Amino acid sequence: MPNAQELSVEDLNEKQAKKELLRLSVEIKQHDKFYYQHDKPMISDGDYDLLRHRNLAIEAKFPDLKRKDSPSDKVGAPVSKGFQKVSHRVPMLSLSNAFSDDDIVEFYGRVRRFLGLGSDEPVDMVVEPKIDGLSAALTYENGVLKTGATRGDGSVGENITNNLKTIDDIPVELSTMSWPSTIEIRGEVYLPHDDFASMNRELEDQGKAPFANPRNAAAGSLRQLDPSITAQRPLRFFAYSLGDVSAPVADNHFDLLEAFKTYGFVVNPLTQKCTSAEAALDFYREIGHQRPDLPYDIDGVVYKVNRFDWQSRMGMVSRAPRWAIAHKFPAEKAETILEKITIQVGRTGSLTPVANLKPITVGGVVVSRATLHNPDEIARKDIREGDRVLIQRAGDVIPQVVEVLDPDREGRPGPYSFPDHCPICDSPAVRGDDEAVLRCTGGLVCGAQVAERLKHFVSRDAFDIDGLGNKNIETFFAEGLIKTPTDIFLLAENPALLEGREGWGELSISNLQTAIREKTTVPLARFIYALGIRQVGQATAKLLARRYESLDNWRSSMQKLVEVNEEAETDLLSIDGIGPSAVKDIKDFFTEPQSQKVLEELSNLLTVEVDVPSEEESSSPVSGKTVVFTGTLERMTRAEAKARAESLGAKVSGSVSAKTDLVIAGPGAGSKAKKAADLGVTLLTEDEWLKMIS
Ligand code: IVH
Repeated sequence: MPNAQELSVEDLNEKQAKKELLRLSVEIKQHDKFYYQHDKPMISDGDYDLLRHRNLAIEAKFPDLKRKDSPSDKVGAPVSKGFQKVSHRVPMLSLSNAFSDDDIVEFYGRVRRFLGLGSDEPVDMVVEPKIDGLSAALTYENGVLKTGATRGDGSVGENITNNLKTIDDIPVELSTMSWPSTIEIRGEVYLPHDDFASMNRELEDQGKAPFANPRNAAAGSLRQLDPSITAQRPLRFFAYSLGDVSAPVADNHFDLLEAFKTYGFVVNPLTQKCTSAEAALDFYREIGHQRPDLPYDIDGVVYKVNRFDWQSRMGMVSRAPRWAIAHKFPAEKAETILEKITIQVGRTGSLTPVANLKPITVGGVVVSRATLHNPDEIARKDIREGDRVLIQRAGDVIPQVVEVLDPDREGRPGPYSFPDHCPICDSPAVRGDDEAVLRCTGGLVCGAQVAERLKHFVSRDAFDIDGLGNKNIETFFAEGLIKTPTDIFLLAENPALLEGREGWGELSISNLQTAIREKTTVPLARFIYALGIRQVGQATAKLLARRYESLDNWRSSMQKLVEVNEEAETDLLSIDGIGPSAVKDIKDFFTEPQSQKVLEELSNLLTVEVDVPSEEESSSPVSGKTVVFTGTLERMTRAEAKARAESLGAKVSGSVSAKTDLVIAGPGAGSKAKKAADLGVTLLTEDEWLKMIS
């Protein structure tokens, strides 16, 4: 019987046609990805057209079989490489935090003093839940959604318009006719608890890593380059403030929210206007009571001065408005039984104790594990198996055990004794200098460390290989199918290795093969991060990629480092953000023969790309220049200056050398400015620098 793929459309029966439509939809989607996202078509335009034609012809013959995700329905712009940047005309501010009632009473006092109000003059505040999601800014021109952006650093965000358009709560056109010609509406994108749970179940079924909490899940869903993926995620949106606007909409915040509703937005229904501090605090407690039953995460309430004229008189201080404050809730707590303590071995050998709990709902999310941090923490709290414990979950943080509730342990085992050997490979576990954790000394002999390194290698921020989630890595590793990162790429070339495995049909094998092949081209920063070198997180990997520019260059410099070449070490240390202990970890990595071997193999198998600077980066006058900031900066913080310089494509270094292009010296600059002068490096004042980059 011939393969459906080989038959002409006329000869296909219904079953074969169905199979073919599935294959074509998957294949066309994959080629679209290669073409649009990676700029790397794998087939000729002609062959691509043939696939599309065949799909159309089969659909014409069997209209009932047309798939919901049919490629013939795909319209709109191709997905872009990364996101464009959007400058916020009105900066997106953050909020200062209050943690107690006293802080709020003080806040009211500050407002009164600032505005010169008498103690009996009422100050209306609008009190709203503080949603634990991600803020977004939506700009409407003549009532039509033109741009949707993330907050970014508050000044520049990312253009995620197409993703935001997929959210039902965000109108693509404003209802009613009375809106200003330009209006920017801001609010929070969030994911309800139920949808978070079902999304995670689905991800796990597909062999992908689940998200840690609803906020991360919402962020991951919004960051998709392909809006059709965002569209499958049930994200929601609450509108809560105004950005750039061409004409006033209201003269106070409460009326503004009413206007938002008429435009078709959802405003949080718990929002209330309060006329006194007491009323506001009562309302804070009321929302606190409702919090465990709300279908989404909130981490406090926000108090906002209602009158806009007062808001503008108060202005802002250090990127937060003076007229608003967030009153945080304490972390959500619950009681349960700690059934067992298990030890997790991390990628770098750290032994982390984990509390396995009787599952319990904390603030709407089911929790069955909590971290116990390290042996000292267990001893200090005297936590034992079988204890009744109080646990807490706060926003992004992993749930924690706060305390033991029943120290009466008649007839129960004694204190927990922390293992002194790795539970996986039985190598001795030792405590490093000044470290609270014990580490397995097994290195690559330890199966757990190797498996964790592999998981890290394929994880979302590293190679991001679809279909190779933690579960699959564990199975493939246990069965000896994948022992090193190289094996992953070899697997794609020998798909027969997967045949006959439970859960692996023709389609899932071919999907995995494509997902792996897609990642054979990788930016240098991701590649470096994926190696899992201790202390080399995403930010450091990016710094290394920027400094060394190519894999060959980085490898040969690091090789020199291993050979105790002083220049190579000074060069590495001159990168602002890389200190001696990170240098030691990088050196240790390159000293391991196994790492060398894997690096060599990977460099033969993969195309590691130089990180492409964005348009802003490459067109700026400081692009590619190495700059050093020294002395006191008066117009911005050091961190801000560094971030701005890096966003313009400059490399920021901590020390001056012959390779330095510019030194920006503020008052109090000492030896670095002198060295720059000695070396003939251009010296700029902060103002000159700002002028240069503006
Ligand atoms: S108002 C100028 N209202 O909290 C005030 N923010 O910590 C700007 N947030 O970036 C924000 N719920 O992402 C405001 N009802 C609410 C909010 C809210 C959540 C977030 C928002 C902001 C962050 C500041």
